[in-house]
Amino acid sequence: MTHPQTTSAATLSQDELKTLVGQAALQYVLPGEIIGVGTGSTVNKFIDALASMKGQIQGAVSSSVVSTERLQALGITVFDCNDVLELAVYIDGADEINPQGHMVKGGGAALTREKIVAAQSRQFVCIADESKLVQTLGKFPLPVEVIPMAVHRIQRQFAAMGAQAVVRLKNGVPLVTDNGQQILDVTGLQIADPLAFEAQVSQWPGVVTVGVFAFQKAQVCLLGSATGVRTMTF
Ligand code: 5RP
Repeated sequence: MTHPQTTSAATLSQDELKTLVGQAALQYVLPGEIIGVGTGSTVNKFIDALASMKGQIQGAVSSSVVSTERLQALGITVFDCNDVLELAVYIDGADEINPQGHMVKGGGAALTREKIVAAQSRQFVCIADESKLVQTLGKFPLPVEVIPMAVHRIQRQFAAMGAQAVVRLKNGVPLVTDNGQQILDVTGLQIADPLAFEAQVSQWPGVVTVGVFAFQKAQVCLLGSATGVRTMTF
């Protein structure tokens, strides 16, 4: 990790910090490119800022239905992932990021498509406020997208690790992802070795995607803090 560079700013609210890092991410958007776009409240700020460059880019590949709709509403063309070979950059938020650039993601239930688009991109630029920076991943409940018939089996596997996996609900019923699957939120974890953890859980039958992004880690994090945007590189 290189030493963070800091730009100055007055004390800002969390929402203002999200706006700041969303705008700061524009420096990674190269004219003529197709941009990978993530999901979440921080990315929404980036999408809004990206509208100012819509005439300069070809368009975007999106990681969720909700981001696709926001991009299209602003007049930005959204390409099918299968029609694009490689993306120069993927810009997305995180629920947690550690000093190595490993992340927990999926608070917005979009982790599977996020991991696919990240894997297709040469550079992952994470945009986050400083509350997301942790030494060890695992305090934020870890999202895991699963096939419904495997829910109880996977819950038992996490219980054997000393963790608790709960089905995420929406309006009192299991949330259904953009891929027609369910989300388990897992508490009681301390993920000391994110690469080993991601490799292990990804192999469990019925797991679609685990929300640890260690293989698809960030190369850059724009971290919004009370003193401005810190640029961390990994
Ligand atoms: C969605 C995600 C988001 O990037 C993550 O939840 C952070 O969201 P926000 O910017 O709203 O805090 O992984 O699946």
